[in-house]
Amino acid sequence: MPDWEGVRLHVVSGKGGTGKTTVAAALAMALAADGKRTLLIEVEERQGIAELFGISALPYEERRVASVGPGALGRSGARTGSAKGGREGGREGEVFALAIDIEQALLEYLEMFYKLGRAGKALRKVGFIDFATTIAPGLRDVLLTGKACEAVRRKGPDGKRHYDAVVMDAPPTGRVSRFLNINTEVAGLARFGPIFTQSQAVMRVIRSPETAVHLVTLLEEMPVQETVDGVAELRAAGLPVGGVFVNMVRPPMLDEAAILAADGDHREELGMALADAGVGARPGGGARKTVPAATKKLVEPLLAQGREHAARVLLEREQRADVQALKLPTYELPLLSGGVDLGGLYRLAAALKEEGAA
Ligand SMILES: Nc1ncnc2c1ncn2[C@@H]1O[C@H](COP(=O)(O)OP(=O)(O)OP(=O)(O)O)[C@@H](O)[C@H]1O
Ligand SMILES: [Mg+2]
Repeated sequence: MPDWEGVRLHVVSGKGGTGKTTVAAALAMALAADGKRTLLIEVEERQGIAELFGISALPYEERRVASVGPGALGRSGARTGSAKGGREGGREGEVFALAIDIEQALLEYLEMFYKLGRAGKALRKVGFIDFATTIAPGLRDVLLTGKACEAVRRKGPDGKRHYDAVVMDAPPTGRVSRFLNINTEVAGLARFGPIFTQSQAVMRVIRSPETAVHLVTLLEEMPVQETVDGVAELRAAGLPVGGVFVNMVRPPMLDEAAILAADGDHREELGMALADAGVGARPGGGARKTVPAATKKLVEPLLAQGREHAARVLLEREQRADVQALKLPTYELPLLSGGVDLGGLYRLAAALKEEGAA
């Protein structure tokens, strides 16, 4: 059973640059496996999702950006496919994406409450929209969260949910609590009427077990500290804390003994080992007593790299312990050496599925 069964709105936050957009996309793909349909929502108006999927800018409409065929996310899917002779697991999952356009969302919102129709367009002409978004920065957040909740609650004519899950590429940790709670403020201002009802409906979704706010981090001091603070802030704000996604994890290249011994003097030992392996010198027979000069030159830089690596592994270990102390479901995503392309997204999605995040 995946960890977030029953969650329909996944909000992905975290420190800037840690991989929020990437993780949100990979999560939307992982959740789409087994014939599900998911929606990935971008709220920052930067077209990061389009860039990630290598497509042109997304218009303000829900567009299919990826499909997740049976077996596309690695071993488990592939196994089901072959063992059952391809009869089962044949359903293809679909990922849709939406980049919210504030102006359009505002017109939609006004339309919803006041049936403005053409008057809505007139508002744009007279600059009302710029005005409204400027005087009320919170209005933007009301529109964004409202749109996300609409997608979460939307049902088809058959009464079934239109999307199995909605994943939001949300603002960074410092802004996410206020962003998600904006409708509480609105409900406090408008005590009754359609706007009050709407903001209450949005808060009901956001504060319910149907929502999970995940935080992305790296195994570095600042992002981990921001994660620890972020969790406390979300809790204080009464928002449902989800999991921690540790991104860009590098596998250790030295074994435990080497890490612990990295500070010692290994010049002679390493020089001999390199010479024996024929590195920096012509391979020759017989045991050596001295290290050739060409090999010697390699020793110091290699040792320096090794020490640096060992130090980093030890630091990462401390950071990992701090993450574990949060006692939240935690997932690790590998650092992809070539950067993140569509193939990379499938790999990250497969890792998330494997770890039970979807
Ligand atoms: N697992 C990974 N392996 C390799 N590169 C990664 C990985 N995750 C993210 N990246 C790269 O790191 C950079 C930042 O990622 P991303 O844009 O997802 O972060 P972000 O948190 O959304 O940033 P911002 O705060 O600017 O919105 C991108 O170039 C992305 O391709
Ligand atoms: Mg981003």
